[in-house]
Amino acid sequence: MTEKFTNIYFDFEKNIFHLKAKNTSYIIRIIKNKYLVHSYFGKEIKNYNIANDLIYLDRGFSPNPSGEDRSFSLDTIPQEYPAYGNTDFRTPAYQIQLENGSTITDLSYVGYKIFKGKPKLKGLPATYVENDDEAETLEIEMKDDVIGLKVILSYTVYKDFSAITRTARFINEGNQRLKILRALSMNIDFRDSDFDFINFQGAHCRERHIERKSLFTGMQSVESRRGTSSHQQNPFIVLLRKNADEDYGEVYGFNFVYSGNFLAQIEVDQFQTTRIQMGINPFDFSWILEPTEDFQCPEVVMVYSANGLGEMSRTYHDLYRSRLCRGIHKYKERPILINNWEATYFDFNQDKIEKIANCAKELGIELFVLDDGWFGNRDDDKSSLGDWFVNKKKLPDGLNCIVNKVHGMGMQFGIWIEPEMISENSELFRKHPDWVLQVPGRKLSTGRDQLVLDFSRQEVCDEVIRMISEVLSSAPINYVKWDMNRHLTEVGSKTLPYERQRETAHRYVLGLYRVLDVLTSKFPNILFESCSGGGGRFDAGMLYYMPQTWTSDNTDAISRLKIQYGTSMAYPVITMGAHVSTVPNHQVRRITSMDIRGHVAMSGNFGYELDVTLLSDEEKNKVKEQIIMYKEVRNVIQFGDFYRIISPFETNEASWIFVSKDKNEAIAFYFKVLGEANAPLKILKLKGLDENKNYEIIETGKVFGGDELMNGGISIPYLEGDFKSYVIRLKSK
Ligand code: DGJ
Repeated sequence: MTEKFTNIYFDFEKNIFHLKAKNTSYIIRIIKNKYLVHSYFGKEIKNYNIANDLIYLDRGFSPNPSGEDRSFSLDTIPQEYPAYGNTDFRTPAYQIQLENGSTITDLSYVGYKIFKGKPKLKGLPATYVENDDEAETLEIEMKDDVIGLKVILSYTVYKDFSAITRTARFINEGNQRLKILRALSMNIDFRDSDFDFINFQGAHCRERHIERKSLFTGMQSVESRRGTSSHQQNPFIVLLRKNADEDYGEVYGFNFVYSGNFLAQIEVDQFQTTRIQMGINPFDFSWILEPTEDFQCPEVVMVYSANGLGEMSRTYHDLYRSRLCRGIHKYKERPILINNWEATYFDFNQDKIEKIANCAKELGIELFVLDDGWFGNRDDDKSSLGDWFVNKKKLPDGLNCIVNKVHGMGMQFGIWIEPEMISENSELFRKHPDWVLQVPGRKLSTGRDQLVLDFSRQEVCDEVIRMISEVLSSAPINYVKWDMNRHLTEVGSKTLPYERQRETAHRYVLGLYRVLDVLTSKFPNILFESCSGGGGRFDAGMLYYMPQTWTSDNTDAISRLKIQYGTSMAYPVITMGAHVSTVPNHQVRRITSMDIRGHVAMSGNFGYELDVTLLSDEEKNKVKEQIIMYKEVRNVIQFGDFYRIISPFETNEASWIFVSKDKNEAIAFYFKVLGEANAPLKILKLKGLDENKNYEIIETGKVFGGDELMNGGISIPYLEGDFKSYVIRLKSK
């Protein structure tokens, strides 16, 4: 007998849960009425009949749980949410310390619930549904009767996406205090290890560089211990078959909807089983769970693609654009902005700002963003964070006046803030020196000369909400850039008891999420962009509150090819802030043409970050042309499908194409990094077009079939010199 929902089935006879997302099956089996076995994740299977059944063998040094014979060991079973200490020697998904000091627990299957829709996660960002018919959720209840610990494993299956989300919730139904040492959000034991592993590594100004390696027997992991998701590793990993690439083969993406310390880990065991796990980093983490309390793990979004990395990315892009990002800006075309940071740094006054804004307006720019330095006594990065009131030396007539002036020019106005931080040289620090993250008896380390406010404390968060609300109410501000410019050290909180100190980092993130939730709800018309020294917190957690992120502090067009290509693996192009800056570039000193700088930046959420008043007339004309063009193609770039064509990680080139959902419009970009003597000629095979449609190339007026452009390709003119770009715009005829 089977109970039937459309996308999740429980087969009572076989004891199998079969979850079906679009083109995808995920299968869990209950054995011995106790253990949850991971049976399958991959391309949709119509009817699963356990052809890949478990074979029980007496394996040396794989012991047997009490009451089981010598052929049964958890060490050899592919599991859904493994425990520690009762015969599985691989890394557990969770670990709890009891009052008697022991860390042995044993969860048994209790029951399940299937329902339509997707519940919210308390205090945490997550993907959502707008209508309960869009998804089905399975909750599996597990229990350790000895201590009264209940764990709910949740799986949501999206009908229109090849995406399944997972999380776990711990509930203390016993009468002793439990200490969670590890509570990961997901675990899958794949039955083989024939995979490569991709991670997204980097540094400040070099974010999300793609690294692909074969799995080896043993442990491989990426993580953040920095208090944020970090520039150094993104909370996103991909497992893919060895023959898989951009357009072919099986690919599994795992993206963590969380902005703090994370762990993404793969363990290949003695029998070539691949255990993949993701969750809050257990390093320096623990959480006290008193009787009746519960602990909610953040969400992991798992995407399966049978057709390579490109299809995986497009699934993430569609899902995140429509069911992660929120608010009135979700489906709105984003304004072309000008930011004064690289134009002036801290050295500006009202007159200079007005001049830049005026000139930007003439060029067609739609939003002026006043970056760091407009508040307190901030003339450099050594003071005033926390003093969120206008710097009268620079803006004597106040914020409202400059906002109105810019509005009067016909442009929107945006402002920079860094609310999580505090300068020692600030009124706020002098008033509340105890409000920073700190550890008794230890001196405070600084980063960019600043300290971190203790967002694990409610009163600190409340005051930040009050101060920032005051700023945002003081003038009709249209946009906010929320920055965060250092990582966390001396992570401890003045008000938490000693046994809860290791909760500080996670409580910080929960506090941040509460502040973001309150402020973004209170100011729903403001377009928020998150930033952390560029792309140090480019993650799905932040995108839930703020629908765009400053991708990197590195604005060099050539560096950006890799940064934007890597970022696009999980995150939609509309979320990726990308600006044209001056030359020589301030981060790498490279000199590139206005053309390539424009083409790279317009491959994202477009803007400028230079003193436009200093441009020559010829440059200004170029900028005007770029802006006219971006406005024409903006909808396709921000809401169309994105196909990567050539990887800058593998070649001296890069290329990609944006195609409108109806496949009537497209724009392809080709970039050549270094010039070569006597270089080969390039034929670019486009992607994503309709093979039955004809397309006019706007630049030449020539018409070709989509099939020809994709299979035969189109000739790129011979491009001499370094740092060249070429654009092809297409319209169906
Ligand atoms: C780091 C950001 O990423 C930059 O764009 C700029 O806003 C500076 N902070 C300002 O301090």
